[in-house]
Amino acid sequence: MNHPTPYTPPAAASPIRPPLDFAIEANLQTEEVLRAADDRLAYWDQEASRISWQQPHTRVLDWSDAPHARWFVDGTLNVAYNCVDRHVEAGRGDKVAFHFVGEPGDTRTLTYSRLKDEVCRAANALNALGVEAGDRVAIYLPMIPEAVIAMLACARLGAPHTVVFGGFSADALASRIEDCGARVVITADGGYRRGVASALKPAVDEAATKVEIDHVLVVRRTGEQVDWVDGRDHWWTELVGTQSPVHAPQAFDAEHPLFIMYTSGTTGRPKGILHTSGGYLVQTAATAWGVLDLRDDDVLWCTADVGWVTGHSYIVYGPMANGATQVLYEGTPDTPHRGRWWEIVERYGVTQLYTAPTAIRTFMKWGEKVPEQYDLSSLRLLGSVGESINPEAHRWYRRHIGGDRTPVIDTWWQTETGAQMLTPIPGITEAKPGAAHGPVPGVSVDVVDDAGESVGPGESGYLVITEPWPAMLRTIWNDDARFRETYWERFGGRYFAGDGAARDQDGDIWVLGRVDDVMNVSGHRLSTTEIESALVAHPAVAEAAVVGADDETTGQAVVAFVILRESAAAPDVEELRQHVASEIGPIAKPRQVLAVPELPKTRSGKIMRRLLRDIAEQREVGDATTLADASVIEHLVREQRGATAAATR
Ligand code: PRX
Repeated sequence: MNHPTPYTPPAAASPIRPPLDFAIEANLQTEEVLRAADDRLAYWDQEASRISWQQPHTRVLDWSDAPHARWFVDGTLNVAYNCVDRHVEAGRGDKVAFHFVGEPGDTRTLTYSRLKDEVCRAANALNALGVEAGDRVAIYLPMIPEAVIAMLACARLGAPHTVVFGGFSADALASRIEDCGARVVITADGGYRRGVASALKPAVDEAATKVEIDHVLVVRRTGEQVDWVDGRDHWWTELVGTQSPVHAPQAFDAEHPLFIMYTSGTTGRPKGILHTSGGYLVQTAATAWGVLDLRDDDVLWCTADVGWVTGHSYIVYGPMANGATQVLYEGTPDTPHRGRWWEIVERYGVTQLYTAPTAIRTFMKWGEKVPEQYDLSSLRLLGSVGESINPEAHRWYRRHIGGDRTPVIDTWWQTETGAQMLTPIPGITEAKPGAAHGPVPGVSVDVVDDAGESVGPGESGYLVITEPWPAMLRTIWNDDARFRETYWERFGGRYFAGDGAARDQDGDIWVLGRVDDVMNVSGHRLSTTEIESALVAHPAVAEAAVVGADDETTGQAVVAFVILRESAAAPDVEELRQHVASEIGPIAKPRQVLAVPELPKTRSGKIMRRLLRDIAEQREVGDATTLADASVIEHLVREQRGATAAATR
């Protein structure tokens, strides 16, 4: 584990002054936040009534088997009923659930009552394929309404879904299917990205050569030709379209598994993070209401892909439990032009925009002239997630997108936490650009030193969550020992998030980035070990070391150092970059691959990544006295200079 970076408050740490963020009228009231701080279980008890239960809970929390929590003990509910049916029953069936915008410009509007029919049909179709409560279902779809429908159909049946981001490779898909034992996969012929049809079904076909898949349900999206296996493959329109739109939802225990989301950790194998039903839905619903400040006539646009936890919690479950109207967009921000997002905001009157700093920095690069051409006056709240938003990006976002009227909330959370955990609260917190401030109501956190003692103002340490929270992960699928060890052992029963953090003089929290070997590229979590394993799987590579180097747009970028096998014909580095893309997915493709004769190692054989990071970022190389062979560094610096010179030639 690395030590967190020492804390130096950024120059731009002064709070945002008039118009005052904390003076706006917002859902959450100070008294409620204070009450939650006094008695968090009473707060969650009250928040549970935000959703509908078939049987109410008898106890808010059972922590007697820590770190395994049981929230809302004995409560039973159906998550899909909560997200869809009950809004229709309350007479809001005609309310728009989604304004879908496809990348080629096609649009679809789905009301809650239409969505209810579709979810019921899909649930009946999955039933017809033999899916029952407890069976896992893999979803590998583009950002189209069927992705949401498929997730809710699984939830309705109590069949945990595992959504695999469409940018992942066949291998990554196969390993996830294998780990969770899904026998049914829901996919599409393809989706649209950057103006072209990009195929998905071939990856499922390839995965099916490695793992056993009984049924593949295929949505027609692009109309491209696909290979077909009779009996295994079914068109969505034929199988789902012909089902009855009636399906009686069954209530499941609050702790019934809802989904497994794979995420990168410090080892090569992604972890299957397990979330359950009641607590997860309560906290995502409560934060969608209190942090995203959702109201009945709002139009929320969370730009994440449903393949990541942000899409699960703040497109599907949290907002839909609140009966929200949302925008769902399939494509990239610059297709067919750089004003695409702002055109969508103007057209649908988006009120809350929730996105990632990497997107904001890209817009900054394109310049404010682009958003200036659109009417963005409907926006009243801007959110950020995925990594710390640097103060410059925060100010730009607020000024050029929010017209200096809207609060910007920087929300810190993780796949594991399931829902937002740290954030300024609209209407209450005076936001400091770059700070994650403090916990959401009902959550308790601390920043501690190596010994687990709280740090003082102006000091940095490790971010820990000191009390269980409703949306917390329940375990790592198939690996409970890893669950205990990764999160609970380091600080004696408190949850170790893997992030460094600091408290400023006011006691507010600033998140400083990962302290383990996890990188954050465009808000996506990537493991250095996973990419190293992919590289050494190439026949020409003997050894590999990967680091995350600072990158102006993506936050961090992957830089790989490889030692080639002597016998191998030297592959060009582009081939190695492609190799990583095909093993894991294009998001993991290194920005740079450097072939080097040796790697810097300590006398005990540990690779000194800190030095590699210095080289990747073309900085003066830090203290190298523990190196076994100091001359390695000179070689590396020379290689890097050579590669940079070649790249700029
Ligand atoms: O390092 C933190 C960073 O992203 C990690 C979680 O990644 P993931 O599980 O993929 O979930 C991302 C979306 C919830 C964290 O450990 N991170 C996320 N949000 C922030 C952040 N770092 C700083 N500030 C944030 N707002």
